Amino acid sequence: MHKITFYPGGRTVEAKDGQSILRAAGSHGIHINAACGGKGNCGKCRIILKEGNVTSKESGFLTGKDLSQGVRLACRSFPETDIVVEIPLSSQMRRGSKIAQGSKLDELRKTVKTTCGGEFKPVTRKIFLRLPPPDLDDNISDAERIKRELSKRGYEAREIRFNLHILRKMAAALRAGDWAVTLTLLGVGNVIEIMDVQPGDTLKPRYGAAVDIGTTSIVVYLVDILTGKILDIASTYNPQVRCGEDVISRMIYASEKNGLDELQKLAVGAVNDMLTAMTKKNGIDPEGIDTIIVSGNTTMTHLFYGIDPSHIREEPYIPTATFFPLMRTRALGLEINDFGVIYAMPCVASYVGGDITSGILASKLYKRPDLTLFIDIGTNGEIVLGNSDWMVTAACSAGPAFEGGGVKFGMRAMDGAVEKVSIDPETFEVTIAVIGNCPPLGSCAPIGICGSGMIDAVAEMFLAGVIDLRGKINMDKRSDRVRVGEDGPEFVLVRAGESGSGKDISLTEPDINNIVRTKGAIYAGFSTLLKEVGYTFSDVDKVYIAGGFGNYLDIERAITIGLLPDLPVSKFEFLGNTSIMGAYMALLSRALRKDVEDIARKMTYLELSVSRSFMDEYVSSLFLPHTNAEQFPTVRNMLESVRNAERRWLGERNSG
Ligand code: FES
Repeated sequence: MHKITFYPGGRTVEAKDGQSILRAAGSHGIHINAACGGKGNCGKCRIILKEGNVTSKESGFLTGKDLSQGVRLACRSFPETDIVVEIPLSSQMRRGSKIAQGSKLDELRKTVKTTCGGEFKPVTRKIFLRLPPPDLDDNISDAERIKRELSKRGYEAREIRFNLHILRKMAAALRAGDWAVTLTLLGVGNVIEIMDVQPGDTLKPRYGAAVDIGTTSIVVYLVDILTGKILDIASTYNPQVRCGEDVISRMIYASEKNGLDELQKLAVGAVNDMLTAMTKKNGIDPEGIDTIIVSGNTTMTHLFYGIDPSHIREEPYIPTATFFPLMRTRALGLEINDFGVIYAMPCVASYVGGDITSGILASKLYKRPDLTLFIDIGTNGEIVLGNSDWMVTAACSAGPAFEGGGVKFGMRAMDGAVEKVSIDPETFEVTIAVIGNCPPLGSCAPIGICGSGMIDAVAEMFLAGVIDLRGKINMDKRSDRVRVGEDGPEFVLVRAGESGSGKDISLTEPDINNIVRTKGAIYAGFSTLLKEVGYTFSDVDKVYIAGGFGNYLDIERAITIGLLPDLPVSKFEFLGNTSIMGAYMALLSRALRKDVEDIARKMTYLELSVSRSFMDEYVSSLFLPHTNAEQFPTVRNMLESVRNAERRWLGERNSG
């Protein structure tokens, strides 16, 4: 057993014998970027050894210079003595996540209240009963006494059920409250189930939580479910990231010994930690939280419930369940009221989950008469097309490029990531914007490039003629930014002197190929879905962009590279995190919870991986912006004017 001290923070933890630095960090809640889940395949878990000795397994990701500077891969290094390591910014799991703004939340609250007819109607209802105490003349059982009182309140036509847990606590609760109790009721059809019985009047306050379990991050809203007020919001990285960055690697991890249990506990533990911190901060007893609504993709939902998701990734891609009825939270290990209930937003198919049905609920697409496209871009691009009458949906495996995977200096949208790029078409000088809290007197030092930065960079390089429509770098451009690096032709976005790592940050030809493949898959998904239902892009009235990525996306640049269709910018609308919004709505309204189930049933799922038409569309999309330039008239015009300006400039320069 050796001690490891991690910086920044200076926390010291113990590593078991044979445990890698990555696993030791993860088991103590210290998160290191581990895109491949610790398999040694991604090179993202770099740490710097400051003191002590480690043994490290071979890795092709580190150069001799890296090694001499103490850089190691955390997943392939094992302490031999007590050690001190630094987790560089690029390996830290921090992020400036944008959560819905106050005005949007107010709007949401009003929408739910209107749907509820002026008052919020959470999943379970509570009623207060004052019962006549028993005596020798009135000596029916406690349960019958409650039933009798309920029938006086108009519940006589319904079957009333008590489960074993309630029967076990009922007698004590009735007597502790001097025959005054608060019941929590759940009505399903003609049956009323007593979910809890508490002594005295505990009608108020009542709290609930809406939880978005994303593959990358988890967001929790703590809500007063009587007023709809969001009392607090917390977010954190999904700690499952250390078991694999994407859903496929998590499914593989889940199939390993104890893997499923570990993944389930990690996600639930993260939610518990956030709820504990929020309840403490707001002076709330966690026992007061009695309802949780979770929203996540199909794999995340399975993992949260501890259900094996492995069949999701094997043809014919079958999830264990798409609907997750209300059940008690106790079995999942959530540290709220012992008699609390949990509900998961329904999924549609293996790769269209509760986050998407939530999104459709929050966007109100299912109530719009006009043709609307809803997209959520992440490692998978999920798409819904439809209106109030019908909806079709599909998911395309876009690849991890926009989240930093497969791109040499790629990283997630976190501190130090280049998020905006513009390139002067004459001088090729580059202007960038970097995510992060810039020091008061300096600029933020970039260390890599995130998805929105990549889209900007490729669009600008294309417009400046640095790359051609196949994404190949034009080596004729006279600029020292265009050069041949160790991975072939590349364009230097940030020079070593301006970068946080002291190295040039470039975009290489293989990087550009990955980005083009990713955008191609997403665009092909849109076109296939439209084609299947006999429409074209010009029929689309509105495009909703959901998810964190959308917050940073530049629509015009995304159109320039052919990621988004060439439609007027006014047709696009960013919605933010609609997954958590939908969960919040379902938390407060039984009617909306029913709506989301109707949405899930109404959606027709199209499996793109076996669609011939998708493959054709995909191949056509592997150009900038597309093989068929007719589909991108704005980009064509833009290119023409840029080339004309370039010709004029060259003419003036030569004649001058
Ligand atoms: S190489 Fe270490 S986590 Fe991927």
